Amino acid sequence: MMEMSEEELNDNIQSENIRVCVIGIGRIGLPTALSFANSGFNTIGMDINEDLVEKINNGIFPLKDEPGYDVMFDKVRKEKKFKATSKIGDVVSNSDVILLSLPTPMNSSNQPNYSALKSVGKQLHDYLASGTLVIIESTIEPGFVENILIPIIEGDGKKLKAGKDFAIGVCPETANPGQILNDFEKLPRLVGAIDDKTKEMITKIYRHVFTVDLIPMPNCKTANAVKLTTNVFRDLNIAFVNELAILFEKLGIDVMTVLEAAKTKYNFQIHYPGPGVGGPCLPVNSYQYLNTAKEHGLSLKLVETAREINESMPLHVVKLLSDAFEEQKKPINDSTVLLLGVSYKPDVKDIQISPAEKIVEKLRELNVNIRIYDPYFVSENIFGIDTESNLIDALLNSDGVILVTPHKEFHDIEPKFLKSKLRNPIFIDTRCVLNQQEAINAGLIYRGLGRGKL
Ligand SMILES: NC(=O)c1ccc[n+]([C@@H]2O[C@H](COP(=O)([O-])OP(=O)(O)OC[C@H]3O[C@@H](n4cnc5c(N)ncnc54)[C@H](O)[C@@H]3O)[C@@H](O)[C@H]2O)c1
Repeated sequence: MMEMSEEELNDNIQSENIRVCVIGIGRIGLPTALSFANSGFNTIGMDINEDLVEKINNGIFPLKDEPGYDVMFDKVRKEKKFKATSKIGDVVSNSDVILLSLPTPMNSSNQPNYSALKSVGKQLHDYLASGTLVIIESTIEPGFVENILIPIIEGDGKKLKAGKDFAIGVCPETANPGQILNDFEKLPRLVGAIDDKTKEMITKIYRHVFTVDLIPMPNCKTANAVKLTTNVFRDLNIAFVNELAILFEKLGIDVMTVLEAAKTKYNFQIHYPGPGVGGPCLPVNSYQYLNTAKEHGLSLKLVETAREINESMPLHVVKLLSDAFEEQKKPINDSTVLLLGVSYKPDVKDIQISPAEKIVEKLRELNVNIRIYDPYFVSENIFGIDTESNLIDALLNSDGVILVTPHKEFHDIEPKFLKSKLRNPIFIDTRCVLNQQEAINAGLIYRGLGRGKL
């Protein structure tokens, strides 16, 4: 790639004569690889998960909750534009462009974990062909590419030098699970690289694949800082409304009424309260910024406090439940409580860092028997609990419900229906899904997060 003149690059893109390898074909990498294949480039997805690779090569599409990609998967496989492998050595040296969509989670003490990127970086050192373009899509701290990944790929620097033997840049991924195709068609992407020529190459290739605006950034670290900033902004604002929600419960003010009215002001951006902030992005991204600050001898007090608030929300939810049991004069100990939804956000099958797990932990401490009904996790074992397959049966045997995830299946749930089925009519609404007055009129013992008692 690096040796190509601008004209040669344009010709190769037009004739789709560029071999692409996406390393890490999970939630983000697989749709990315399919989009590259769909644009005409021969694309290989590489992943250490051999079961996943086998499924994909046998025509089984693993992301059932990503609309549009099932059809694209069948199309690009039929056209022989896409396949998967678990052998990195077979593909890296035969690829012109390598995309890294590897996980960047955190460990149990909230330290960012870049082991997948570091390990693949070492393998790139071994296998990379001269002139290859490497693009990192994973979410990383500003400076990670410059200070950690490039030195790993270069090794001792005798064999490979960034900018001379390989080109490297970033195009941070910003799509939302459950609507990745939609976001790939609408959300602008940021492009940062070690030099202008690489930035231009990445921009041209991505323009062939995606229809969105590609925003040039001065370097990799600035592009990665933008990505973190947009997500940490959300973590902070959710913490703000969570704090207000707890205050409004005391004041008898409905948080949703306040927020819906507040959003009529042009410069208010609405964020909603809830049982906590989960998923592979927001909490991790806040800790990534905290880690960067710490390494530079600084602290980000606002981010730290926001994390504390959002991480305390599961406990608050359990307090609402205990309060409802007290009103009923029934012991919470040995009761059976049904969680509606365990995904960290609605309409996706994903429990990474879900607040539901913390709620389960707290309920176990209170000796509560826990049931789970989630349309995305029917008859599975989640957090050590066998999930329910039938909502009515689950309600019939429960003394209370906590609605954790507002999947669309729960939006039209009727208070009267709940009252008629529940053994004991306690309902904790962490997402303000029910109409509070209707819930009370139906005879539910209702507690809404951010809603005072009526
Ligand atoms: N999921 C999201 O909502 C989202 C959104 C935007 C950005 N991101 C970022 O995108 C990146 C990927 O996230 P994801 O949600 O797709 O993760 P994921 O866990 O769904 O997929 C990662 C894949 O990488 C594979 N893998 C792990 N180590 C490997 C290795 N050494 N070699 C080859 N393959 C390996 C895993 O088997 C897995 O299939 C992360 O940095 C994440 O922060 C995620």
